[in-house]
Amino acid sequence: MNVMTKPAPSPLAAALRGNVVRHTQKSFDWDAFPSNRGYPELARAQMRYVGAGGSPKVGEPGTLAPEHFTVSLIHKPVGNYAACHAHEIEESFLVIAGVLTVGWERDGEVCEVKLGPKDMILNARDVGHGFRNDGIEPVLMSISVDVGKPLPPRYLYHPKLGTDPALAHSFGAAPGKTIPFDPAGDHPLQQQMARCVIRHAEQAPIHEAAGFQRRVYVGPGGVESETCRKEMYGIPAGAGVRPYVRAVEDALMVLEGSLVVGWEENGETVEMELGPRDLVLNPAGRRHWFRNTGIGPCTAWCVVGNAEPESVRFEAA
Ligand SMILES: [Fe+2]
Repeated sequence: MNVMTKPAPSPLAAALRGNVVRHTQKSFDWDAFPSNRGYPELARAQMRYVGAGGSPKVGEPGTLAPEHFTVSLIHKPVGNYAACHAHEIEESFLVIAGVLTVGWERDGEVCEVKLGPKDMILNARDVGHGFRNDGIEPVLMSISVDVGKPLPPRYLYHPKLGTDPALAHSFGAAPGKTIPFDPAGDHPLQQQMARCVIRHAEQAPIHEAAGFQRRVYVGPGGVESETCRKEMYGIPAGAGVRPYVRAVEDALMVLEGSLVVGWEENGETVEMELGPRDLVLNPAGRRHWFRNTGIGPCTAWCVVGNAEPESVRFEAA
């Protein structure tokens, strides 16, 4: 009897498969942040895609090695919060589901903003920040940090420091010291935060001649940064681009719909389809592309390993 055997994938196909992280291959880790142990109101779960993203759990199998940035998902249950802390790296929170309240603290005053799906804040270096889920559904967000100085966070208000629980819950604001987010406000915290928040509905899309649109979140035209660029792609059904190359790595995480991603080397091409919350990490120098072969639009989050203006001239496939 003839037994059909599947041919082994080519090295290029294996390499692409090795740089794709499927949401369903991963598990959420409820013990990613040791400083939360023993405080159920601080509990959150992390799923690591690229690097450890602030967790000490570096180098685990199934997580891609970071170069210039990390990508992880965070699940925050209703009612829980993250204690106010600061660190020497930039950190972006992109909300995928739910409503996230983020607070920035300085000298006992806190400016709070509520972010909905596809809204983002880039937490500036050394600014005390915390977050809380005041909503009625869990928050799912994508966090990216640059890997410049992976120092542990410096906690400013945390129950383990003896901070009053109500004060820790408000990120360090005593009653009456919480300021609402307001881009037209004149408080320095309001003004600083306004420069670091992107609301999807208010960020004008760039319409690429290649047939898709992108909204700049971090980089020229969005929040200023010296480390990485971050954009939201809207890719209609049937749209796709020809192979392109970058001098640094980039990552695409599908948020809605599906996306076929491909690599090329020496005339050989390989492709894989990504679904919601799947990610591909394209290495520097790799010829790669994407196209939406589905019947609905695709929304994808793109992180590029430097903050230079876009150098790729996208061409329709
Ligand atoms: Fe942080």
